[in-house]
Formats: sequence, C-alpha cells, structure tokens
Amino acid sequence: MLSASRPSARLAVLVSGGGTNLQALLDAIDADPGFGGEVVVVAADRPDAGGLQRAKDRGIATVVEELSAHSDRASWEAALRRAVEAHRPDAVVLAGFMKILSGAFLAGWPDRVINTHPSLLPAFRGAHAVEDALAYGVRVTGCTVHLVDEQVDHGPIVNQQAVEIRDDDTAETLHERIKAVEHALLPASVKLLCHDRLAVSGRVVRILEETR
Ligand code: GRF
Repeated sequence: MLSASRPSARLAVLVSGGGTNLQALLDAIDADPGFGGEVVVVAADRPDAGGLQRAKDRGIATVVEELSAHSDRASWEAALRRAVEAHRPDAVVLAGFMKILSGAFLAGWPDRVINTHPSLLPAFRGAHAVEDALAYGVRVTGCTVHLVDEQVDHGPIVNQQAVEIRDDDTAETLHERIKAVEHALLPASVKLLCHDRLAVSGRVVRILEETR
C-alpha cells in the first residue's frame, strides 16, 4: 500500500459509540510520523455516535447512514459503502461499529477491513462479549484485533492481548480495562496493515518483517 507516490494509506473508520478507539488511532497517527496512514473519513450508523464529534474536531469528513432510513439492510449497506468509497480509502477500520457487514461491503477492501473485539476470540463472539465472559466465569479475557470476514467476529486474527478478570469486576470496570488494551493494540495493528505487513494464509496471519 505504501509507495513513493502514495506515502500514506487512506483509512476509513466506522463507529457506533463513543469513539475512544478512533481517538486512540488518531492520537497514534499524530504521535508517529512513520505510521503510514491517515483517517480520511469517519462513518457512523447513528447520528449520536460520539466518534463523529471527535472526527469533526479534527476536520475529518463524516458520514452518517442510518439503517432506519432505508427499506432494507442491503440498500443501507450499499449506501454506506458508496459514501465511504467516495473518500477512496485503502482500508476500513471498524472501531466499535455495531452492525454486521456483508460480503458485498467487504469485497471493496479484501483483507483490508479490520475490527477490534473485546474478548479473546473465538471465545465470546457477538455484541455482549464482556458480559458473557463475566457470566461464564472465565479468569482471563482480553481483546482481539482481526481481519473481517462474512461471519461475525470470526476473521483471521492479527493481534490478541489478555486481560485478567478480578473478583469485583463489573461489565463496566472490565470493559474499561479491555478498552485500555484495545487503545494500543488497534493502532499497532492498523499500522501493520498500512505498511502491508500482514500476510494472510487461510485463517492465519503472519506479520512480515519491516522493510525499509
Ligand atoms: C470496544 O470495546 C469495541 O471492541 C467494542 O465496542 C467498544 C467501542 O468503544 N466493539 P469505543 O466506541 O471505541 O469507545
């Protein structure tokens, strides 16, 4: 993706919530001249997603595409794809985006849609991963950054990090500690993607050596 003629990968970030992972990515890009990526658009499926304001504060373009404004899911997803594509991103980062994207969307960026999920996959897929880990009684959970395929929280794993569960944890306290880990792991993984350092073979991702 990186070349002399295009020094920086163009990134679209999709959010549904507060956008702390988006913020961590923006901060990591700011702090690292060698990051190799820039966020060119932030898209949300709801107008009250806090991540939108974080983007506006930086002068980054925003898009809102609500499912309720469309007659069906396919037309919502097609509209979202068109709006994102208008910004010519090289890769798409799902940073707390709470809707499932089909192959029709993913085909635009093969092996270049990346997601962060608050569990150690394949355990606890789905929207309630933190609550489910607590209810199951596992002692260790964590976060997973993975490439997105057509199944929910399933694609090839780029990075994982464990977080221990404490006896007095609530979903809120545990999620906060997981997010703190995500805030480092997601930007580090996106940087690898920007530098074309992810070699995907089936489910397995190999991280390539840095080339200069
Ligand atoms: C993250 O924990 C992400 O893994 C999950 O939702 C949370 C989003 O948080 N899917 P934020 O909007 O980035 O603060």
